[in-house]
Amino acid sequence: MRNRLAHLIQRDGRALFLPIDHGYFQGPTHKLEQPGKTIAPLLPYADAIMLTRGILRSCIDPLITKPIILRVSGGTSIIGEDLSHEGITTSVKEAIRLNAAAVSLSIFVGSKYEHESLMNLSRLVNECEEYGIPVMAVTAVGRELEKREARYLALCCRIAAELGARVVKTYYCSEGFEKVVQGCPVPIVIAGGPKVESELEVFGWVYDALQKGAIGVNLGRNIWQHDYPVAMIRAIRAIIHENATPQEAYKLFNELKAEKSKIEK
Ligand code: 5RP
Repeated sequence: MRNRLAHLIQRDGRALFLPIDHGYFQGPTHKLEQPGKTIAPLLPYADAIMLTRGILRSCIDPLITKPIILRVSGGTSIIGEDLSHEGITTSVKEAIRLNAAAVSLSIFVGSKYEHESLMNLSRLVNECEEYGIPVMAVTAVGRELEKREARYLALCCRIAAELGARVVKTYYCSEGFEKVVQGCPVPIVIAGGPKVESELEVFGWVYDALQKGAIGVNLGRNIWQHDYPVAMIRAIRAIIHENATPQEAYKLFNELKAEKSKIEK
């Protein structure tokens, strides 16, 4: 368990996870139509990638040495009745066979299928602990993005930790995020959610989340849906692993963007 966690969480105590699992309920998400192509230039800057077994098997070179966080929940779609109605899709045996450093699963607190998703987490933790595999709980909000406020996120994160998650993925919120972290005894990483227009806004979330105790990110769309994804991931990496401020990260982003534009001309 400690060795697997050490592959994910770096020696500075921080982590940059790159999720490309969105297709498991969204289908061929914009810019993730060919996941292997999308992430190839980003891989050197990620500490781990998060994805499903199908994409791992069909789009990712088995010779890569990046740690894998295997998404093992699903069974719903964006056009289906209820996104919270997930089950466990992938066995622990498969996770071991695929040499996963961790597995991840969504929980839907406050939803119709709250109980099922929390029992899924508990079952997964029971099995994974036997083999020393960390479980990352994904505190999902489904379609209700407005749920991303401290009281709700704190509730979800604490429940995930109580049920045995070793790492929790949640969302950043501008007010009270420190309460989310303080109430959760295991490391927290933040997701970005749908892509926003301002790079500086993303850098601000990441920086503030770290100041308030998060260990890093599990951030996808605001990296790989960007026109300059490498510049984005490198700027975010500078905040996480080099303690860059949002302004320093923005400066780096602009330098990398200008370099890339020059090469493309
Ligand atoms: C999708 C997920 C994603 O991995 C997570 O939401 C992070 O991605 P993004 O930054 O694009 O929100 O769990 O279900």
